[in-house]
Amino acid sequence: MKVFKKIKEIKSYLGEQIKQGMTIGFVPTMGYLHEGHLSLIRYAAKDNDIVVVSVFVNPTQFGPGEDLEKYPRDLDRDIRLAQQAGATVLFTPEVEEMYPNGYKTYVEVEQITGTLCGASRPGHFRGVTTVVSKLFNIINPNRAYFGQKDAQQSIVIKRMVKDLNMDIEIIVCPIVRESDGLAMSSRNVYLNKDEREQAVVLSQSLFMAKEMIQNGEKDALKIKKAIIKMIKEKPLADIDYVSIVDIETLTDVSEINNKVLIALAVRFGKTRLIDNIMAEGK
Ligand code: PAJ
Repeated sequence: MKVFKKIKEIKSYLGEQIKQGMTIGFVPTMGYLHEGHLSLIRYAAKDNDIVVVSVFVNPTQFGPGEDLEKYPRDLDRDIRLAQQAGATVLFTPEVEEMYPNGYKTYVEVEQITGTLCGASRPGHFRGVTTVVSKLFNIINPNRAYFGQKDAQQSIVIKRMVKDLNMDIEIIVCPIVRESDGLAMSSRNVYLNKDEREQAVVLSQSLFMAKEMIQNGEKDALKIKKAIIKMIKEKPLADIDYVSIVDIETLTDVSEINNKVLIALAVRFGKTRLIDNIMAEGK
């Protein structure tokens, strides 16, 4: 596997590969790779000649007081795991390489970035769309792979690619979970033993909600209340939001007739966890 830190060098290498007719699959990450990330790399390796993984903890998507400084990092381990999963190129630039002095340009998707996680993390998606645009321009992938774990992020990226006429296929891959159901996340390492045990309520409440919908319940408020009640039984859980929204507009749904996204964010101590599930009304 080739490891690049400089934009000029990876551009020149991948430019040569593109000239030779190679297809490029791209998996953007912030590192500290786990099975969720590795599943994206494996999907990319199935479909493409070259698989580029980026490892970059992007400062522009973290708000003040968030975990930018203490975000977990282990590049050597990431390099090993990415390679084992089928990555052929790894890009890990320094912050100054991506945002040199005088940097002034941002990409912003409106409206759908103001709800759910966007409401509690102002500016977060502006940072995500900016860095992902830059990475797309550097790498020029045919396909890019994102996880359903960050459902809103995937929807925002799809919107951006469509609106800005980027010729990149966005592939959204299923959520990978621990054996007890907790969605894998680099941030799970922050949880202490009690928090980790109680965090299983996130997926449990979503599975319960999906079952309610499958059994014919259409009242979104009733389902939301059932989720909140279940989460509140765990003393360490502090709910940020529980929402049932249209999968395209991300606006609240009151009666469930079509496909909906049930999404939630819950704090355990200083750690904010997110999870979601799709369900379809009958
Ligand atoms: P990061 O949180 O490292 O996630 C990288 C990719 O892995 C995202 O597409 C995310 O949805 C996916 N992912 C994370 N956990 C997953 C799981 N349990 N199952 C399936 N996929 C999972 O998301 C980001 O980084 C950043 O915002 C980024 C897009 C790299 C821009 O900086």
